[in-house]
Amino acid sequence: MKGIILAGGSGTRLHPLTKVTSKQLLPVYNKPMIYYPLNTLLKAGIKDILIIVAPEHAEDFITLLGSGSDFDARFSYQVQDKPEGLAQALILGEDFLDDESCALILGDNIFTDCLSKAVKNFQSGAKIFAKKVHDPERFGVVEIDVQGKVISLEEKPVKPKSNYAQTGFYLYDNRAVNFAKSLKPSVRGELEIVDLNNKYFELGELQAEVIEGQWVDAGTFESLHRASCIVREHELGMKGSSNLEVKIQKTQASKEGAKLTN
Ligand code: DAU
Repeated sequence: MKGIILAGGSGTRLHPLTKVTSKQLLPVYNKPMIYYPLNTLLKAGIKDILIIVAPEHAEDFITLLGSGSDFDARFSYQVQDKPEGLAQALILGEDFLDDESCALILGDNIFTDCLSKAVKNFQSGAKIFAKKVHDPERFGVVEIDVQGKVISLEEKPVKPKSNYAQTGFYLYDNRAVNFAKSLKPSVRGELEIVDLNNKYFELGELQAEVIEGQWVDAGTFESLHRASCIVREHELGMKGSSNLEVKIQKTQASKEGAKLTN
């Protein structure tokens, strides 16, 4: 399975923090935000990863993450000219995916769970990951039956039918690219992830799993702050063993050491 991280978008909800940099490069406690979704993919065993970036920040992401060799992985980059929706990632990633299944993760989503089991067990259709929240109207809202089958899925409904948010981690089989191509832009001019997921829902092939650990969409001032607090607790060992620990092969210190000896 291949991975895609969506790290484009304009981040307007975080202005002025995002006036000169990308949201996914902002610090979350002691690392840039994108390290966390990247880590979620790496921990799930996904090593071939496409990072979707806005044109004005492409260079910064390449400088930060490079080829992926520091993470024992392979990174590719794709510029998204305009933020035309999350589902556009599948269309932009068509050549990269080369008919394989895919794990898509949003660059501002932080998970403390290890999702490797779900990735290993995934066979076909699509799978979304849900979390109970107190403010479901901010998210895609999913109703789930006891077997994990989706009953309904709506983007930011005024009257949510449940308290379960659709998080920013999705598994798709190789039909997702064609389904994404068949979508029409929503009223806000975007190819919506919820519409892509509803394609699978209409076929009875959309599964949902409720995640146990913590989850934050770090796209607002409040949630960005909360994300830093959660990471800090894990870093300081206040929460026991942590899935948030990012394993980098060559540390900054060893790189500097290498420079000194040259
Ligand atoms: O975080 C979970 C939620 O993410 C889901 O519950 C919603 O169903 C889903 O639509 C999405 O909602 P958001 O309003 O949080 O999406 P946002 O526009 O903030 O975009 C999420 C990430 O994707 C963010 O890191 C920016 C990036 N992005 C966004 C768009 C629209 C792109 O890279 N390209 C884009 O075109």
